[in-house]
Amino acid sequence: MSNRLLGLLAALLPLATLAATAAEPRASARIASPDATIAVEVTTDNEGRASYRVSRAGRPVIADSRLGMLFADAPKFERNLAIVDQRTRSHDEAWELPWGERRHMRDHHNELRVTLAEISGAKRRFDVVFRVFDDGVGFRYDFPDQPGLRRLAISEELTEFVVADAATAWWIPSFEWNREEYLYHRTPIEEVGDAQTPITLRTADGLHLSIHEAALVDYSGMNLTRVDGRKLKAALTPGIGEAKVEVAAPFATPWRTIQIAERAGGLVESGLILNLNAPNALGDVSWIRPMKYVGIWWEMHLDRKTWASGPKHGATTAHAKRHIDFAAANGLGGVLVEGWNLGWDGEWFGNGEDFSFTRAYPDFDLDEVTRYAREKGVMLIGHHETSGNAAHYEQQLDDAFDLYARLGVHAVKTGYVADAGQAKVRDAQGRLRYAWHEGQAMVRHHQTVVDAAARRRIAVNPHEPVKDTGLRRTYPNLITREGARGMEFNAWGNPGNPPEHEATLVYTRLLAGPMDFTPGVFGMDTKSGEPMASTLAKQLALYVVIYSPLQMAADLLEHYEARPEAFQFIRDVPVDWEDTRAVAGEVGEYAVIARRARGGDDWYLGAVTDDSARTVEVPLDFLEPGRRYTAQIYRDGANAGWRDDPHDIVIESRAVGAGDTLSVRLAPAGGQAVRFVAQ
Ligand code: NOJ
Ligand code: CA
Repeated sequence: MSNRLLGLLAALLPLATLAATAAEPRASARIASPDATIAVEVTTDNEGRASYRVSRAGRPVIADSRLGMLFADAPKFERNLAIVDQRTRSHDEAWELPWGERRHMRDHHNELRVTLAEISGAKRRFDVVFRVFDDGVGFRYDFPDQPGLRRLAISEELTEFVVADAATAWWIPSFEWNREEYLYHRTPIEEVGDAQTPITLRTADGLHLSIHEAALVDYSGMNLTRVDGRKLKAALTPGIGEAKVEVAAPFATPWRTIQIAERAGGLVESGLILNLNAPNALGDVSWIRPMKYVGIWWEMHLDRKTWASGPKHGATTAHAKRHIDFAAANGLGGVLVEGWNLGWDGEWFGNGEDFSFTRAYPDFDLDEVTRYAREKGVMLIGHHETSGNAAHYEQQLDDAFDLYARLGVHAVKTGYVADAGQAKVRDAQGRLRYAWHEGQAMVRHHQTVVDAAARRRIAVNPHEPVKDTGLRRTYPNLITREGARGMEFNAWGNPGNPPEHEATLVYTRLLAGPMDFTPGVFGMDTKSGEPMASTLAKQLALYVVIYSPLQMAADLLEHYEARPEAFQFIRDVPVDWEDTRAVAGEVGEYAVIARRARGGDDWYLGAVTDDSARTVEVPLDFLEPGRRYTAQIYRDGANAGWRDDPHDIVIESRAVGAGDTLSVRLAPAGGQAVRFVAQ
């Protein structure tokens, strides 16, 4: 280069620098959590690629991770981007859950809204909004309506999560036929394949992370694919058209979330997912009743009764009344009856087109059963198994819910048993299409169901659902759901749930929200004859450890009648809470959870362990200082163990106070349940 040219460049350079600083674009934007511990930085590189990174206490947690979006019918947002605007704001708000694992919530965060625009070409733009809490980060893409992007046909997100430190991961595979019903893998992060969220990570220096999403509305569920090393990348569930998501602008995506905690229990106590959901949209929801229930259910899973008609039909009027009597006598609010409606004969699994949601089998008198239930102060819990045929279900949806509303049925369990990718939905032209369980079409379907139910004051409990992303805040009638391997796998699973299953769920699936796991199996019967990985005390502990506002007492009634002393805990334990503490635990090893009854003074404690017996010293400092409590303890006996004697239980009482420490001894696959009665 000639000296003259160099001289010219030198003369121009200060001008160029000036232009870059005086006018946008800026190269980076930064925001920290209210306590300044967690920080997020957004940058663009020299090719105009946008990234974010997250640090905690000055140490990287998420290293530079890309942001961006691919479209099926428009140029991608990948390179050629500049930060053209950034705005921050702070938010601190107290709010209440109408029902929940706690009453009082605090939404305290700092927000950074970064506007990214194309440097050349159409100059389209979008925002990425970060909310940084003391316990983690949420961010979403926000697309304004603009020329060239009126409709978004999203083919993939470019969102990445590059985990900065070596980590162990607990995850279930995505894009598999059995939806969320998989055993958790525990692997180094480098061995993660295609994973669902929430995924839980423990880094080499002991930090716990959960990557998930909040407020999944009108979008496809996010999965994670490991690209290389410790880089996880968003992989949206396929849609029913070419694009994975089709929406009109303006549109904001669900929040991508990273919860960060030192203790495993810190993840459990985090309110981040709920804080990122919109407030209650239903107004007065005092009609939603958290409750315990029994049902005509476990006996079908053990093949002792059938959903289908015939000599072993479970849903008979007489059998339903027997359950209603039992519920009434024991203070349980509901009775679930499955197999009551026409359509279970033949190939119902993954088919669903024969189901009627309004016509009962002749041996089940729906009017009489609901009348009898009302008389006894018990509610029938309705059941709509769709076998994934959402289109067929939607045709009957209004009639089905009208019927239940007329009969005083204010909670309905739904089901979507069908291989993943085999749900049936209608597209915009009314054509029948196969859909994934967590694709946009099924997300829309579940919203349609929740809306139709809410209009009639009905709560829904979907099985084989879309994963929980905290929508219960906006739609409190979306009361609980399945979405993991539940108790049913112990009846017929091959293998059943392993000893560490529940201690894994606490720190993985349950971070997303309540689960209708259906605990309380005293009989320990399995179809295979293999021992169930539980002790009796653990079955009781699950009522505290696994949070769900609808909580089943899943076993056959005669098994409860045979063990009234142990069943007393199920009678006593609440399903709605004032406060929750994750007292102790490690992912996949053990969990000790304490909860205070909603509107009451009594505390409850549940502890479960994996295959290792252990003793956990639990300080009772969650109890009110200076107050005395009677601890009613249900613990594993000296010979208890899932392979040895699952039914060996000791039930005893002691006086305790907040200054005491309880030695919680757990047998292999064992547990302990405690009720602290305030004096
Ligand atoms: C699967 C559900 O998880 C289970 O609870 C139900 O009994 C069956 N589907 C039949 O609907
Ligand atoms: Ca299921």
